[in-house]
Amino acid sequence: MSSTLGRVLVLIPTYNEKDSLPGVIARLRAAVPSVDILVLDDNSPDGTGAVADALAADDPQVRVLHREGKQGLGRAYLAGFEQAMEQGYDAVVEMDADGSHQPEQLDRLLAAAQGADVVIGSRWVPGGATHNWPHRRNMLSRGANVYTRAALGLAVRDATAGYRLYRTSALRAMDLEGVASAGYCFQVDLTLRAADRGLRIVEVPIDFVERTEGTSKMDGSIVREALGRVTLWGLQRRGEQVVSAAKGFGRRMTSGATWHELTD
Ligand code: GDD
Ligand code: MN
Repeated sequence: MSSTLGRVLVLIPTYNEKDSLPGVIARLRAAVPSVDILVLDDNSPDGTGAVADALAADDPQVRVLHREGKQGLGRAYLAGFEQAMEQGYDAVVEMDADGSHQPEQLDRLLAAAQGADVVIGSRWVPGGATHNWPHRRNMLSRGANVYTRAALGLAVRDATAGYRLYRTSALRAMDLEGVASAGYCFQVDLTLRAADRGLRIVEVPIDFVERTEGTSKMDGSIVREALGRVTLWGLQRRGEQVVSAAKGFGRRMTSGATWHELTD
């Protein structure tokens, strides 16, 4: 912890992002030339994979992982994490391909990582904002975060945020084999794992700017998966709290010394 960051790999998942990916990569290369980039493409029907290959052919710091088909954001990231760990990177960054995450604000995440294991680029801390996001999406994001905090007791303000940094040492501590989340609740899943393992999570404000090209891949099944899993995790945690409270009560009632105190 608190060590300087060494090699950083920025992971950019893509599904039908051929129009926005080149601009995002160009901005990122200009903003932070030292980081490497790995595009995680799920065999996009619009040919994003070929666009990414062309960018990679021109730039040794850009690479592409071609996946068989659309399997969800979470699974694409898990594949990217594995490569980063195998290749000895010290940290990974998650960044959307549609321009919603400003490459020019990556320095905020990198700076905060000096004293953190996980950095979240947050829309819902002071200084953070969304721009041009439909009212419906703002409400959904705020509602999801209020529900997540209530159900899981997480202190994080933007647990669904997709602009993040993880030290690979943190990823190794997070039991990623157990992650089943396929869609955007992957973000909440990993936040919870990090918090439960006592990893240091820091939020920095970011400007989330709605895309101008292509369309969001958010759909009803992603929302349903998130609601279902967060509710389940919440119930499991309550169950564990009740069981541990019961055990504590049992210990008090059976330990001689305390028993005397209680009966005196
Ligand atoms: N490889 C791959 N596979 N990439 C995907 C998939 C998939 O199944 N689904 C989405 N992506 C990519 C998109 O191409 C984009 O680069 C990024 O993941 C985010 O997808 P969007 O569809 O643009 O997400 P959004 O703008 O609606 O949602 C944003 O906000 C959510 C809620 O806060 C993202 O930042 C999410 O990560 C975040 O959870
Ligand atoms: Mn988007």
